[in-house]
Amino acid sequence: MTKYVIHGGKPLYGAVEISGAKNAAVAILPAALLVNGVCRIENIPQISDVTLILNILQELGADVKTINRTTVEIDCSHIRNARVPDALARKIRASYYLIGALLGRFGSAEVPPPGGCDFGGRGRPIDQHIKGFTAMGADVDVNGGIIHAVARSGHLMGTTVYMDIVSVGATMNLMLAGTLAEGTTIIENAAKEPHIVDLANFLNSMGASIMGAGTDVIKIRGVSRLSGGSYSIIPDQIEAGTYMAAVTATGGELLIKNVIPKHLECIAAKIAEMGAEVEEMDDAVLVRRTGKLTRTNVKTLPYPGFPTDMQPQVAACLCLAEGTSVLTEGVWDNRYRYVDEFRRMGAQIQVDGKVAIIEGVPYLTGASVEAPDLRAGAALVIAGLAAHGTTEVSQIRFIERGYEDIVRKLSGIGADIRVVVTPDEAKSAQVG
Ligand code: EPU
Repeated sequence: MTKYVIHGGKPLYGAVEISGAKNAAVAILPAALLVNGVCRIENIPQISDVTLILNILQELGADVKTINRTTVEIDCSHIRNARVPDALARKIRASYYLIGALLGRFGSAEVPPPGGCDFGGRGRPIDQHIKGFTAMGADVDVNGGIIHAVARSGHLMGTTVYMDIVSVGATMNLMLAGTLAEGTTIIENAAKEPHIVDLANFLNSMGASIMGAGTDVIKIRGVSRLSGGSYSIIPDQIEAGTYMAAVTATGGELLIKNVIPKHLECIAAKIAEMGAEVEEMDDAVLVRRTGKLTRTNVKTLPYPGFPTDMQPQVAACLCLAEGTSVLTEGVWDNRYRYVDEFRRMGAQIQVDGKVAIIEGVPYLTGASVEAPDLRAGAALVIAGLAAHGTTEVSQIRFIERGYEDIVRKLSGIGADIRVVVTPDEAKSAQVG
């Protein structure tokens, strides 16, 4: 196991460049399965979830060419195989997008159940995805540990689907499924996250007809074919928010470049309440924090509410804010698995169901902690950067699922963070 070793207590200064959005990329790359031709996709983040999806596409028979660090060309014209390899798919949550894309293209899909971070309490259900596929004329069942989905008439039929829960994944999956379906698919009570608009823009640029993405009703007129094209993925809202939270926790002044400031408004509002100054520019935000942090309350909600994927990072800031803050998780059942790790660093947090009460302390103290999932891992890094002394964060594979070059980016803005591999662990990493 590789660790990050952080010597904390240094304010962050300088500029950091944000990569392409993970949660857009993990849907747009499988969407290439719907395209008969070459898709050139730019601004792809270099993270392990993206590598896994590209490997899955290749195993399915796609021609994947790396053009440069952030650009690939994918040609899925010759794919005939709708069965996704087991070992790779189980490692990522977003493998569920392969169901919508393969079902849309071939009328059938065989995909292992999704893996990824688990904080649903009841696992991470996909009943809303299945409800949508079924309404579109597919039979979906699980046997032998594999999800089998088959369109009864050979292809999916457009229909109206009302989502019982606002779900990012189900909304995007039904967009994928509806793109080549016969007739019109209407998704009601759709999610509105920026990556939903990005997926619609990608598909439309390849010839799809999707209207209303970014509102709670999305209308997809099925088309018979998508042809190739070129598309650039939006910047990562959560990566940007994580650096905003980092400088809020450590103090300093950070220019966060290559962002869409509109996507960051909900995060900017909260860190401003805590005492940071946020200046919005065309494609950058400047965050400065010099004074004390003050308490605030945060509730996570679907977009445009405060993102659940920023909840642990903002908790790291609240641990250092004067007074008592109330944090309420409004999306997931169980997203406080990091609390014990924070406590090791001296944080005072009580959790009752979906609510965490955080009593600010004057400082955190470095400790050995373990990342329980991706965003909680990022939050522990933030806590370590702000803490007195040395923090060791293990299980960093979670962090590397979603943050491109986090050590290089943080080192470039004044953090003292490095990767340490112990000899035994290096050996087992080679074997694994
Ligand atoms: N839900 C259901 N049934 C479903 C689908 C979802 O009950 O069929 C529930 C979930 O249990 C959860 C809520 O609905 O309580 C919202 O889940 P959603 O479907 O929106 O989440 P997701 O699509 O599985 C994506 C992101 C998550 C992010 C959520 C919410 C990807 C790959 N993942 O997950 O991102 O937390 O939306 O915004 O896009 C992360 O990046 O760290 C991450 C976990």
